[in-house]
Amino acid sequence: MTLSRSFTLSLPASAAAVIAALSFALAEPKAPFEPRVGQSGKDVIWVPTAQALVDRMLNLAEITPADLLMDLGSGDGRTVITAASRGTRAIGVEYNPEMVVLSRRNAKVAGVSERATFMEADLFATDFSKATVVTMFLLPSINLKLRPKILEMRPGTRVVSNSFDMGDWRPEQTVEAPGECTSYCRAHLWIVPAKVEGTWKLPEGDMRLEQTYQTLHGTLRSGNSTMNITDGKVIGETVSFIAGDTRYTGRVNGNAIEGLSPRELMSRFRSSYHLAAPSFTNFGIGTLKTFESSGFGSEVRRSDSPRE
Ligand SMILES: C[S@@+](CC[C@H](N)C(=O)[O-])C[C@H]1O[C@@H](n2cnc3c(N)ncnc32)[C@H](O)[C@@H]1O
Repeated sequence: MTLSRSFTLSLPASAAAVIAALSFALAEPKAPFEPRVGQSGKDVIWVPTAQALVDRMLNLAEITPADLLMDLGSGDGRTVITAASRGTRAIGVEYNPEMVVLSRRNAKVAGVSERATFMEADLFATDFSKATVVTMFLLPSINLKLRPKILEMRPGTRVVSNSFDMGDWRPEQTVEAPGECTSYCRAHLWIVPAKVEGTWKLPEGDMRLEQTYQTLHGTLRSGNSTMNITDGKVIGETVSFIAGDTRYTGRVNGNAIEGLSPRELMSRFRSSYHLAAPSFTNFGIGTLKTFESSGFGSEVRRSDSPRE
């Protein structure tokens, strides 16, 4: 009797049956993973964004090939793959390893594997600070948890969330997907504002700005008169407000606010974010001044340390 024969013969019948079943299972090709809508996820279940809304979300963010998009909780990879199909480098962050494998397969089928990549990771432990566009379909509580990190991102970073808001940080714009989308068909856009709260030195006097997210209030003191600053907004690095009967617009550059050339100003106003902002819809061009044309030029400087 050989050693193997005596080994096989000495195994109980039930163990032999298990070995036989295992070898059969190993021989069978495994069926590809099929995600189920509603399947559990680490912090939120998987529900895919309707493709019609994915398209709208990317339009809302005005993605370009110069952007780096990161989708936090990327599911089957559809947002990342759609962005990559438009020429944008995009990274999906997904906790479920099977969804990551599925996303990579989907990216390959779409022919965008070079630009669409996926990390198997926890979004809370992932550094997404290099992204210029962040997309997500999570939960209101998760958005709120991420908000402090988002507000520390580079000014001008666009953040688009399917359905869920950011608490008292009001979105710049909200869109809906018509037609094929039947649930979760609305998305919001936020643009990370530069931090401009503090005191700014102007040739005329001191300007005091108070900032709540993208909204500005404050005063401009010139000689003996103090003017209230109204209708103030920071969209990315662009600052705009009314003092007296004049609207001022400029761009934050470190500790200075620089004027925008009239051409640049007009092209910014043509951009959808700015047209959508209510404060920009009905200004009279006669009352519009850049910091330069108002004589502020590069003389607008901080006279305190920026607030952290
Ligand atoms: C509602 S789905 C959205 C999927 C995709 N972004 C979309 O819009 O189609 C949320 C996704 O987040 C993933 N997820 C949940 N918690 C996560 C975490 N802590 N880190 C990374 N991914 C997570 C889930 O597995 C799921 O795929």
